[in-house]
Amino acid sequence: MTFTKIYLSFIWLSVLLGVTLAASNATTIYSLLQSQKDYTFTVQSMELTNLTSIYNNTFLNYTFLASNDTAWENSSANATGALSAAKQNVTGAIDFLGRLLVASTVNTTVEFSSLSSGTTGVVSLIGLPLNFTKNSTGDSVEGDPVISPDVAAGNSVVQFLEFLLVPPAPPTTTAVPTAAASAVPTSVATAAPTSAIIP
Ligand SMILES: *[C@@H]1O[C@H](CO)[C@@H](O)[C@H](O)[C@H]1NC(C)=O
Ligand SMILES: *[C@@H]1O[C@H](CO)[C@@H](O)[C@H](O)[C@H]1NC(C)=O
Ligand SMILES: *[C@@H]1O[C@H](CO)[C@@H](O)[C@H](O)[C@H]1NC(C)=O
Ligand SMILES: *[C@@H]1O[C@H](CO)[C@@H](O)[C@H](O)[C@H]1NC(C)=O
Ligand SMILES: *[C@@H]1O[C@H](CO)[C@@H](O)[C@H](O)[C@H]1NC(C)=O
Ligand SMILES: *[C@@H]1O[C@H](CO)[C@@H](O)[C@H](O)[C@H]1NC(C)=O
Ligand SMILES: *[C@@H]1O[C@H](CO)[C@@H](O)[C@H](O)[C@H]1NC(C)=O
Ligand SMILES: *[C@@H]1O[C@H](CO)[C@@H](O)[C@H](O)[C@H]1NC(C)=O
Ligand SMILES: *[C@@H]1O[C@H](CO)[C@@H](O)[C@H](O)[C@H]1NC(C)=O
Ligand SMILES: *[C@@H]1O[C@H](CO)[C@@H](O)[C@H](O)[C@H]1NC(C)=O
Ligand SMILES: *[C@@H]1O[C@H](CO)[C@@H](O)[C@H](O)[C@H]1NC(C)=O
Repeated sequence: MTFTKIYLSFIWLSVLLGVTLAASNATTIYSLLQSQKDYTFTVQSMELTNLTSIYNNTFLNYTFLASNDTAWENSSANATGALSAAKQNVTGAIDFLGRLLVASTVNTTVEFSSLSSGTTGVVSLIGLPLNFTKNSTGDSVEGDPVISPDVAAGNSVVQFLEFLLVPPAPPTTTAVPTAAASAVPTSVATAAPTSAIIP
């Protein structure tokens, strides 16, 4: 599966980057969110999925779309239920959280300050398209308002969103049924995961 490939690739990558990680205490996506008190669900998801090697990484130049705990609680995808299930080691729930995270991650830095007005399409780590829009209303991702744009986290950047973006379930999903409900209005509406991200 795509997620497994991504996951295994980053385990491999984290071995390569181990020295860099140990030698630096620069801000990372993970440490930035950890320092913000209302992003605990995202931080816990990074830990439960063992993806801290990506998100606690000062080397990668990524973009992460972060939503606070209230947004998680409000999500019709029952993301907090999936988090509870993941804490009980329910495999489908852990996969769901991993997919939620990587669908909110782009492998380049996308800063609204550098975008032209209008819509710019980017592709998330899981292969899903995401529309970044900049207009007179403000900045948004998939129509989801950006509350704080372009917050630096080391080489990476975090876009703080108002709502939780939930990707559609993969075509051959085994995700936890309660969490695999179809996309909420603020979520990515279309497209299937396509390719492995890391060669
Ligand atoms: C780590 O953080 C401390 C305190 O903020 C700072 O004094 C030190 O220079 C930092 N070390 C590195 C390697 O960035
Ligand atoms: C995150 O990175 C910092 C700095 O390298 C390290 O001290 C800390 O233990 C890491 N945390 C996790 C959960 O990996
Ligand atoms: C995360 O790593 C721990 C320790 O290596 C392991 O026990 C756990 O099963 C891993 N979780 C996942 C989701 O891979
Ligand atoms: C990230 O960006 C920095 C500064 O622009 C650059 O030096 C570094 O090589 C980039 N890292 C990766 C992994 O692309
Ligand atoms: C969360 O949902 C409640 C009840 O539907 C609503 O009052 C509140 O404004 C929502 N909060 C956010 C941040 O969307
Ligand atoms: C949310 O998910 C949890 C854990 O899977 C489940 O126990 C709960 O019933 C779900 N709640 C709703 C409203 O679907
Ligand atoms: C989940 O798995 C981890 C690592 O294998 C273990 O330490 C923990 O006790 C397990 N939690 C539950 C609730 O089974
Ligand atoms: C970044 O992601 C895009 C879309 O998933 C992919 O085509 C590209 O190869 C990736 N680049 C790197 C350096 O991983
Ligand atoms: C992105 O916006 C274009 C129009 O600008 C639209 O055709 C497309 O469906 C949108 N894609 C997503 C993933 O929302
Ligand atoms: C700006 O873009 C958002 C998201 O696509 C849209 O909801 C809003 O109506 C747009 N505003 C204007 C003035 O076009
Ligand atoms: C979470 O974000 C929403 C939307 O911006 C905001 O209304 C709410 O106050 C935030 N919640 C917390 C606990 O900061």
